[in-house]
Amino acid sequence: MSSELKDSYVFPRDHVDNIRINLQHYLWVAQFGYLTHPKIPLNGAHLKIADVGTGTGAWLMDLGSRLPESTQLSGLDISSDALPPDEWLPPNMTFRKWNIKDDVPEDLVGQYDIVHVRNFVYVLQDDEIPRVLDSLVKLMKPGGYLQWGEVDPTSYRITKTKPGNRVEELDRLMKLALSSNTRLTPTWVTILGTIFQEGGLEGIECDVREAPPPHINLAVHECSLLIPELLMRATENKELAQRLADTMRQALEQTREGAAWTFTRLTVIGRKSNVV
Ligand SMILES: C[S@@+](CC[C@H](N)C(=O)[O-])C[C@H]1O[C@@H](n2cnc3c(N)ncnc32)[C@H](O)[C@@H]1O
Repeated sequence: MSSELKDSYVFPRDHVDNIRINLQHYLWVAQFGYLTHPKIPLNGAHLKIADVGTGTGAWLMDLGSRLPESTQLSGLDISSDALPPDEWLPPNMTFRKWNIKDDVPEDLVGQYDIVHVRNFVYVLQDDEIPRVLDSLVKLMKPGGYLQWGEVDPTSYRITKTKPGNRVEELDRLMKLALSSNTRLTPTWVTILGTIFQEGGLEGIECDVREAPPPHINLAVHECSLLIPELLMRATENKELAQRLADTMRQALEQTREGAAWTFTRLTVIGRKSNVV
């Protein structure tokens, strides 16, 4: 079964989207303090690592720059549009086009010591998750690790520097953005640990961060504000685009007064059984 030619990704994969993904990566690492969870062993000169939905390749290339050049880095994605040209990729990195909703290509089954997925919340719907997890486990070697990081959209709230700060326009902006696409309201992230369990993974650890530390709070919020900005540019609904633009102006004022969208983020890891 192969995917349709035109994928249904809600973001434009343009330079602003890439800036958002790259900034999001560095802020993510600043918040969690690691690229791979400390319980994942990184010893071995010939590790094979896959990053599914690699986007700009930020996570994979950042990790690769800290590991021996004999490590094999595989970026998988439905599109290579966000990646640098081949000439600017590290020599030990390859890209492979793969739709996570399709069958796993035979030659990739059981290949990887580490499989990484992050920020797929706006890509996958609740009913697609069990099959996707099954495919990710198929990519792994026996004893290999899966690391999956997400923002939990159900944890959305607004934090303020002072109790009296205005937040109405920030809240309106969030609701407008969510109304633009049904893909923006999935609920599977909250139960990702249980999903790992049901998928047969072992040694599951859920690293849950309720909110970014204060020193990066504004940067994380401003990075999230790029989402309505991108939706505004991408939507064909002119009325919605205008409402998003008007609300954005006021939401930015409320941001400067000391209010920010806040989300719980989590990194879940699990190990594939050694017994096949
Ligand atoms: C928000 S980006 C995240 C990029 C990267 N994982 C990160 O955290 O920096 C989501 C990525 O998923 C990719 N994607 C969307 N639908 C996909 C699918 N069905 N199969 C594989 N990748 C997909 C997009 O092309 C995009 O690169």
